[in-house]
Amino acid sequence: MQNTSYNALIVSETDHNTYSMKIQPRDIADLPQGDLLIRVHYSSLNYKDALSASGNRGVTRHYPHVPGIDAAGVIEESSSPLFNKGDQVIASGFDIGMNTSGGFGQFIRVPAEWAIPCPQNLTLRESMIYGTAGFTAAQSVKRLVDFPVIPENGKILVTGATGGVGSVAIALLKNLGYKVSAVSGKPEAENFLTQLGAAEIITRQQAADSSGKFLLKEKWAGVIDTVGGEILASAIKSTNYGGAVTCCGNAASPDLSLTVYPFILRGVSLLGIDSAKCPIHIREKIWQKLAGEWRIENLESLVTECKLPELPGFIERMLQGRQKGRVIVNLL
Ligand SMILES: NC(=O)c1ccc[n+]([C@@H]2O[C@H](COP(=O)([O-])OP(=O)(O)OC[C@H]3O[C@@H](n4cnc5c(N)ncnc54)[C@H](OP(=O)(O)O)[C@@H]3O)[C@@H](O)[C@H]2O)c1
Repeated sequence: MQNTSYNALIVSETDHNTYSMKIQPRDIADLPQGDLLIRVHYSSLNYKDALSASGNRGVTRHYPHVPGIDAAGVIEESSSPLFNKGDQVIASGFDIGMNTSGGFGQFIRVPAEWAIPCPQNLTLRESMIYGTAGFTAAQSVKRLVDFPVIPENGKILVTGATGGVGSVAIALLKNLGYKVSAVSGKPEAENFLTQLGAAEIITRQQAADSSGKFLLKEKWAGVIDTVGGEILASAIKSTNYGGAVTCCGNAASPDLSLTVYPFILRGVSLLGIDSAKCPIHIREKIWQKLAGEWRIENLESLVTECKLPELPGFIERMLQGRQKGRVIVNLL
């Protein structure tokens, strides 16, 4: 390669506990070791990126750092027999964007195990509209489908409904024939949510019971939770006998205050979801579903596209819980 300089959004610690974001040039030679050098075409904004960009040491230990937990692009150099120069790939999860330079730069270098071929019927841009949030939504839906929770069992509650995971989950569930109730703190997003497929919208206040009761009236056949805290606890207490609840996030709180009664009196199951270390065979299966039988036809309705200089504004919005749908970053 002749020109080894590229642009990236670099987060630096300017003072103790103060962080700044700047678009700056970097050199490919400074990327970590790895089998694949990938020219990033698109990345996407996920909640973990917003945490990394604001100095959350649970996500990123060392600064300066380039966040971006997912990236879709073309292989520029490969020392792995699994991939060739020119292959289109999705790299996501593991340590990308956490302590390994991530997708908010025009190049990444990663181990071959962190990448999968981009499914043939999905463009690189479309893969990042789903991104890690969409992948996590699909993992959550798959856990309910496999459980099985079937549409005839009753309604599915989706929390953090206008967020990346929530919005994709609603669209996927609707396509599969489920009736979805959406919890959202954004009254102005009613149209967005109903167009995605929500049959009913519930406020965060309605969804968070503070009565202290151990069990609440049964309402949900299944739940996809992205927020944790009181909303998750209330959802578990309101899940029907034998139902299932997936838990992937903590946008509201990492706490979960409960008794064992929903589990021992109603047989409710709590299913944990992790996308970062999801095994490769499951990872590939889920991406194939998103590209094929589970494909969301109106993907464009979910997305806002930006370039690197606009990204800090979207990161701020996400930290304030004001973001709606998915944000993708065009690095071309
Ligand atoms: N386990 C995994 O592998 C994995 C993968 C991806 C994401 N996650 C986690 O899943 C969560 C959601 O991710 P995301 O990408 O969807 O983030 P996001 O786009 O920022 O969406 C989060 C949504 O949660 C709601 N929310 C925000 N603050 C809240 C509060 N204080 N109380 C109640 N609701 C609140 C908002 O929706 P409304 O305004 O509509 O209520 C917001 O849009 C995050 O915690 C993220 O770290 C985990």
